[in-house]
Amino acid sequence: MKTLKDEILQRGAVLSDGVLKVDSFLNHAIDPNLMTKIGETFAERFQEEGVTKILTIESSGIAPALTTSLQLQSELVFARKRKSLTMRDDLYSAEVYSFTKQQASEISVSKEFLQPTDRVLIIDDFLANGQAALGLIDIIKQSGASIAGIGIVIEKTFQPGREILEQEGYKIESLARIASLSDGKVTFYTEKEQ
Ligand code: G4P
Ligand code: NA
Ligand code: NA
Repeated sequence: MKTLKDEILQRGAVLSDGVLKVDSFLNHAIDPNLMTKIGETFAERFQEEGVTKILTIESSGIAPALTTSLQLQSELVFARKRKSLTMRDDLYSAEVYSFTKQQASEISVSKEFLQPTDRVLIIDDFLANGQAALGLIDIIKQSGASIAGIGIVIEKTFQPGREILEQEGYKIESLARIASLSDGKVTFYTEKEQ
C-alpha cells in the first residue's frame, strides 16, 4: 500500500535494527485519513471471505480494525490485556508470550462476543514474532468460529511471524512489509506487488 509506505518513510523512525517507531500515525497519535485508507484496503483484500466479525487486540489494533469493520459492515471486538471491572466469568483466554518483555501475559474476550457461526478476520498493527496473532487464533478456535484471515498493517519480514502463521495455513495480508531496518534505514520487501 503505497500511501502507507510513504508515511513510514516520511514519518517513521528506525529506533534499532529491530524496531520501527510510528507513534505519529499508528501507535500514539492516529492519522484518521490514513486509517480510513487502511480500512478500505483491508476490506478489498478480504471482501470475498464472508467476514462477520473482526478481532483485534488493544490498543493499537483498534483503529485499523474499526475502519476495516466500517468498510466490511462487520462487527468488531478487541481482546483485552487486562480484565475490566465488568468482565467476570465466561471468558476465552490465551497466553501471549512477549519476546521483548520475555514474559507471558493473558488476553481475554468475553464468550458473548464470539459465536461458532462467526467468520473472523484478525487485524493487528504489527507482525513481528506472531505471538499476539497466535493468541487471537487460540481464542477464536475456543469459540468454534472460523478464521477468515489475518490483516497486518506493518509486517517485519525479518522476524518469524509470517512464517509461523503461514505454516498454520492462514491467509495473511500485510499492507507494508519491511525486509530490514539495518543501518537506520527502512527497506521494504519487494518480491511482489504490495
Ligand atoms: P515481540 O513479539 O517482537 O517480542 O513483540 P511483543 O509481542 O512483545 O510486542 C510488544 C509490542 O510491540 C506490541 O504492541 C507489538 O505490536 C509492538 N511491536 C513489535 N514490533 C514493533 C515495531 O517494530 N515497532 C512498533 N512500533 N511496535 C512494535 P503492544 O505492546 O501490544 O502495544 P499496543 O498495541 O498497545 O501499541
Ligand atoms: Na503495538
Ligand atoms: Na498490536
